[in-house]
Order: sequence, then structure tokens, then C-alpha cells
Amino acid sequence: MKGILVAGGSGTRLHPLTLAVTKHLLPVYDKPMIYYPLSTLMLAGIREILVVSTPQDRAQYEAVLGDGSQWGLSLSYAVQARPEGVAQALHAGEPFVRGDTVAVALGDNLFYGNGLSSVLQRSARLEEGAVIFAYEVKDPRRYGVVELDREGRALSIEEKPEHPRSSWAVTGLYFYDRDVMRIAGAVAPSARGEREIRDVNEAYLAQGRLSVEKLGRGYTWMDAGTHASLLEAADFVRAIEDRQGLKIACVEEVAWRMGLIDDAQLRRLGEALVASSYGQYLLRIVEGG
Ligand code: TTP
Repeated sequence: MKGILVAGGSGTRLHPLTLAVTKHLLPVYDKPMIYYPLSTLMLAGIREILVVSTPQDRAQYEAVLGDGSQWGLSLSYAVQARPEGVAQALHAGEPFVRGDTVAVALGDNLFYGNGLSSVLQRSARLEEGAVIFAYEVKDPRRYGVVELDREGRALSIEEKPEHPRSSWAVTGLYFYDRDVMRIAGAVAPSARGEREIRDVNEAYLAQGRLSVEKLGRGYTWMDAGTHASLLEAADFVRAIEDRQGLKIACVEEVAWRMGLIDDAQLRRLGEALVASSYGQYLLRIVEGG
């Protein structure tokens, strides 16, 4: 399975922060936002990942993430000429995916919780259909909402419904089989002029091939696309990291724990960042502290 990190868009809800800097490189406490969805894909066991961005942001992503080899990954880049929707960004990855199965992560989504890796790795073995992840929220009217039957099967997906049929929001992580590029390529622009990922999921739903993985109360899901949610995500990360002394979405640590890099490589990465508590953390974990 390949991975696509969808990191384009215009970030208008974060203006003026995002006038010159892409949202996905803004800090969420101690690391750039994009480390969070990147680590989610890594925890799913995915190593070949495409970053899709706007033409102007591509060089900055490359400066931060490189070719991924420092983390045992293979990262490549593609651009979306105009931010015309997540399904379009996904479709831009067709030459990269080349008929494989694919996981798509939105660049501003944070997932955290005990057992997440095994849920993700199970989903990454998908050969047929699609898997989306649902999270219970207090105000579902702000999100895409999936209605579920008693067995947890999807009945409908609605976007920002006035009268939600459930409290399960559709999160920004999707696993698809080999049909996805054909489906994404056929999605027409919505009323707001974007090719919506919701339409891809609805196509799978209409074919009876959409599974929903419910992330229960042991998990955290956040997106960081507004001023308040960006601060909220940073507060959350800081609270957990300060309390436990363990980092969330530290890509170097994830690479090391997944066996993608060895002790010597992690030590080198830590030494390169040693002026920061982030680098010191890498050195501490490699020494077993
Ligand atoms: P959104 O948060 O819906 O859109 P946005 O990032 O453009 O921000 P705003 O609404 O504030 O203008 O996008 C969800 C994710 O998808 C986000 O990480 C950016 C990414 N994206 C693309 O890569 N290409 C696109 O065409 C769009 C619309 C979004």
C-alpha cells in the first residue's frame, strides 16, 4: 500500500497566518503540523509516501522532509496546480500509486490513542473496498457525518448537515483499493467548485464497499485548520508530552520503533537537533531513558 499526504489547499481559515506559509508547516507545539499525519501513515506500516502540495509550497516541504531516507522512508512530491479539492489532490497521485492500494491522510489531521497502530495496520491490509474512520463529536454539524446501522455499517454520508443523523464525524484518513483512481478521476466539482473526497467515499458506499472504523473514546482526533483548533491541538500535545515525557508524532521515534532506522541513525538525527528539547528527546530514547 502507498500513502498520499494531501497538503495543498489554501488555508483561508487561518489567514493571515497562511498568507506566506502553508498551514501544514505551522507548529503544533514542538513540530510542524505535517509530522502528525506523516506519522499516522508510518504507523500504518506505509513507507512510500507522496506529498501533494501547491506549486509554491513544494520546495518548503522538500526542505523539511527531504526524500525521507533519513527516516527509512521514500518520499516524493507532486503538485496540484490549483486547490480544487481533495479528490483532485488524490487523483494527482495516480502516476505514483500505479494501481496499488492507497491510504490518504489530510495534512492537518492529528490521530492519537492506544492501539491506533494495530487498527491502522489492519486497515492497510485492505484489498477490496474502502475504509474510513469515524469519531464521535459534540457538534456534528461542523463535519462530514456518517450514519451507521446497528452493525456499524454506513447508511449515508452528509456534509455539514443542519440535522445530523449521527454524532460520528468522518475524519481525514481513508484507505482505498485499486479502483480509487478511476473513481476519483470521475468526481465532478461540487457546488463550491471542489472535487470532494466525500464523493469518492459515497461512490464506495453506493457500491456497498465502504467500511467504517469507529474510533471510540480512547482516541483523540483533531484537525488544526482554524486558529482555535490549532491552539487546541498544540495545548493537547503539550499536555500529554509534558505529563508523560513521551512525544506524539515524533517521526524519528516512529521510524526507530518501526525498525526503519537503527540506533546509530537515531543518534545522528538527535545530535543534529541537540540544541532543542526535541533533539535531546531523541538522544534520551535511544539511550533507553
Ligand atoms: P481544507 O481544510 O478543507 O481546506 P484548506 O486547507 O484549503 O483550508 P481553508 O478551508 O481554510 O481554506 O482541506 C483539508 C486538507 O486537504 C488540508 O490539509 C489541505 C488539503 N487540500 C489539498 O491538498 N488540496 C485541495 O484542493 C484542498 C481543498 C485541500
